[in-house]
Amino acid sequence: MNNGYILETKQLTKKYKKSTVLNSVSIHVRKNTVYGLLGPNGAGKSTTLKIIAGLLKQTSGEVIFNGNKWTRNDLIHIGSLIENAPLYGNLSAEENLEVIRTILGLSKERIQEVLQIVGLTNTGNKKVMNFSMGMKQRLGIALALLNRPNLLILDEPTNGLDPIGIQELREMIASFPKQGVTVLLSSHLLSEVEHLADDIGIISNGVLGYEGKYRSEDNLEALFTEIIRTQAVSS
Ligand SMILES: Nc1ncnc2c1ncn2[C@@H]1O[C@H](COP(=O)(O)OP(=O)(O)OP(=O)(O)O)[C@@H](O)[C@H]1O
Ligand SMILES: [Mg+2]
Repeated sequence: MNNGYILETKQLTKKYKKSTVLNSVSIHVRKNTVYGLLGPNGAGKSTTLKIIAGLLKQTSGEVIFNGNKWTRNDLIHIGSLIENAPLYGNLSAEENLEVIRTILGLSKERIQEVLQIVGLTNTGNKKVMNFSMGMKQRLGIALALLNRPNLLILDEPTNGLDPIGIQELREMIASFPKQGVTVLLSSHLLSEVEHLADDIGIISNGVLGYEGKYRSEDNLEALFTEIIRTQAVSS
């Protein structure tokens, strides 16, 4: 049974002692689309993405992957870049990818393929500790793509990128759905997901205040501000 969603969360809740940082969040990510999870600092974006990527456990609620209750085995189909990429500073880009490629048992060619996708083919022996922020970010995405995931989770992927890097990343992300890769990304800026996301969710203070198709004629800026204000008042 599948309703066209590659991923859903059902009343996902995360509590730390007395504070509820996610409160019954239900998102619906359609297969082969880009979903933008928007919200201000501390809204609960990374917490949501970490639960889906298996880095955190929810207090209650469920994650449904491809119509079934999420299990750790689903992680073979999920690539993620959340907060900082786990990189070895003393290794080159290729060597970093080689470590994970070996663990996953993938073919050698895949390394050049992902380097090509993220535009990082010319860094040679340069050690990652000498990479710029943007280069590290690209390498993090390359790592997340190694396994040919069906679902790619990117937490604030434009962090540290220059305007050209942001534009290139947008084009890269936009090209994924037609290659069978669904993208779930987070941002605190509406402008970053505009014209890129098919659907958006707006989260504030742990509550999903809006979810729907992105339509360029909608005044999302006003909606975004209103949701953030409403949640701030009710908390
Ligand atoms: N280990 C923890 N213990 C207690 N509270 C935590 C813990 N980790 C996160 N939080 C709280 O959970 C809330 C949501 O954090 P989260 O990192 O998901 O926000 P975010 O939307 O990703 O924000 P940002 O845009 O700043 O990255 C915050 O209020 C944060 O302080
Ligand atoms: Mg975050």
